[in-house]
Amino acid sequence: MCGIFAYLNHNVERDRKFIVDTLIKGLKRLEYRGYDSAGIAIDGDDKQAEDVNNITIIRSRGKVQTLEDKAHQAMVATRLGSPLLVGIRTDDAADAPDAIPILLSDPKKSKEPVTSDRFMRRTKSWEHLDTHEPVEYFLASDASAVVEHTRRVIFLEDNDVVNISGGHLSLHHLKTAGTNPSNMARSRNVQTLDMKIQQIMKGAFSHFMQKEIFEQPESVVNTMRGRVRFEDKMVKLGGLVDHIGDIKRCRRLLFVACGTSYNSAIATRQFIEEMTELPVIVDIASDFLDRRCPIFRDDVCFFISQSGETADTLKALRYCKSKGALTVGITNTVGSSISRETSCGVHINAGPEIGVASTKAYTSQILTLLMFGLMMAEDSKQKESRRLAVLKDLSRLPELIQKTLDLSESIKEMVQKYMTSKNMLLLGRGYAFANCLEGALKIKELTYMHAEGILAGELKHGPLALIDNTMPVVMVINDDDSVTKSHNALEQVVARGGLPLVICPDTLDIKVQKGTVKLDFLHIPKTVDCLQSVISVIPLQLLAYHLATLKGHDVDCPRNLAKSVTVE
Ligand code: F6R
Repeated sequence: MCGIFAYLNHNVERDRKFIVDTLIKGLKRLEYRGYDSAGIAIDGDDKQAEDVNNITIIRSRGKVQTLEDKAHQAMVATRLGSPLLVGIRTDDAADAPDAIPILLSDPKKSKEPVTSDRFMRRTKSWEHLDTHEPVEYFLASDASAVVEHTRRVIFLEDNDVVNISGGHLSLHHLKTAGTNPSNMARSRNVQTLDMKIQQIMKGAFSHFMQKEIFEQPESVVNTMRGRVRFEDKMVKLGGLVDHIGDIKRCRRLLFVACGTSYNSAIATRQFIEEMTELPVIVDIASDFLDRRCPIFRDDVCFFISQSGETADTLKALRYCKSKGALTVGITNTVGSSISRETSCGVHINAGPEIGVASTKAYTSQILTLLMFGLMMAEDSKQKESRRLAVLKDLSRLPELIQKTLDLSESIKEMVQKYMTSKNMLLLGRGYAFANCLEGALKIKELTYMHAEGILAGELKHGPLALIDNTMPVVMVINDDDSVTKSHNALEQVVARGGLPLVICPDTLDIKVQKGTVKLDFLHIPKTVDCLQSVISVIPLQLLAYHLATLKGHDVDCPRNLAKSVTVE
């Protein structure tokens, strides 16, 4: 199940069009989480739609737009001021009519839906929350679906049960799913959402992905705000302050994540090893679990996740907790399972990411992890000059990202030549390698081409056999300690007839021995080695974006994918 939205009105009359439109709009806001089927259920009695126990159900395969057309055709006959309206969508593509919507049913009785009155009678001490009797309630699995209606929210935890009747909201917490909730009354604060409606709208951009790529000069500032103190050259991550002593004394650091979040750990490992002098292990969550990786009480385990809900990452977190390790969450979603269940953590503050392909969250994850490295080395005299050099370039980052974004139009022209390509190899080493993985991931998921990120040091151990004058190659070369070896790899590729596109800082004047060969270049601004990935990933994001749109693909909703992967 990928997203749930519900609307309940009390003491206020709403016409049926308003109700249907509210539900559909709520589902549209959740569409980025999965888009295979959708449905709504309304306590109406329209005979044109399916009607189960006086609950009217309309459902359809495909995008929410199909559902909207169907709902408007049926124009559900809902009683004014009706008490329960539920919109549900899922990513179960197999058979939409069986999949959605899911209705509550009483396990002890028939298939009859549980009414709130009957549930209340069976459960005693409910915690009544003072919500000042709102006339409307919006319930959603994601804050972005409610923000245009209200910013006052209550975040629920796993196994919470909410009852709303007569305008009152009451809450219970079940020890485990399915247990009797009678002894577990819970209170929960009403919080104010720090999110604006503009953040979840496309504005002048054609796609959310494009908007999110172009938001990066701003999102990196939000990640650093209040944390990097340029005046006194310090970094303070509030969520880690109380634990930094324990982290410094740990046996090793483990970074566990999936997909793009995993790549952000690869991008920062070298710097964190340098700053902490601790062994850093980076693992893909599913593989970490398959291996049942040995974990010790004096390990510190980081769980990096944009959504904070990825099933494998969450399960790995619970596993490490059971072994007594300190757990740290690096998430972008306030109130997410990972942020709640970790011992401490940092919110990356990239703002809502709606495009299924992660872009601004990646650069903000990298920054957050680098800030962690800087904070760990704060007392080291030996590392002071290095720390100061990184801090200096952090202050220039928004301007350098902006300059890199100016390459967008030339990249749009450049991708034409890859229109019919079936494969692409991305090569790099050192700090450039993580972006080869990340660029390949973006190209795969958006253009449906096969793409592979290869560590340039591994070239001669097999991948070189793939190179000829038909294989598209992108080389990411940094102006740092790796430059000579990266240049050697470039020579190897050119010698085999390859004609790579080279992405490198404008401080490098790269030539190849086969002087007649004309390479394609994308020159980007140079920054300190550990920050270069934040800059060099931008042309790769743009390359994938432009190539996919040129091919006519829906970049915000790539086929077969969903934003939050809540199944293993
Ligand atoms: C790729 C992408 C995915 C996610 C992965 C983990 O563009 O978005 O690879 O990075 O599914 O998701 P989170 O970070 O939410 O745990």
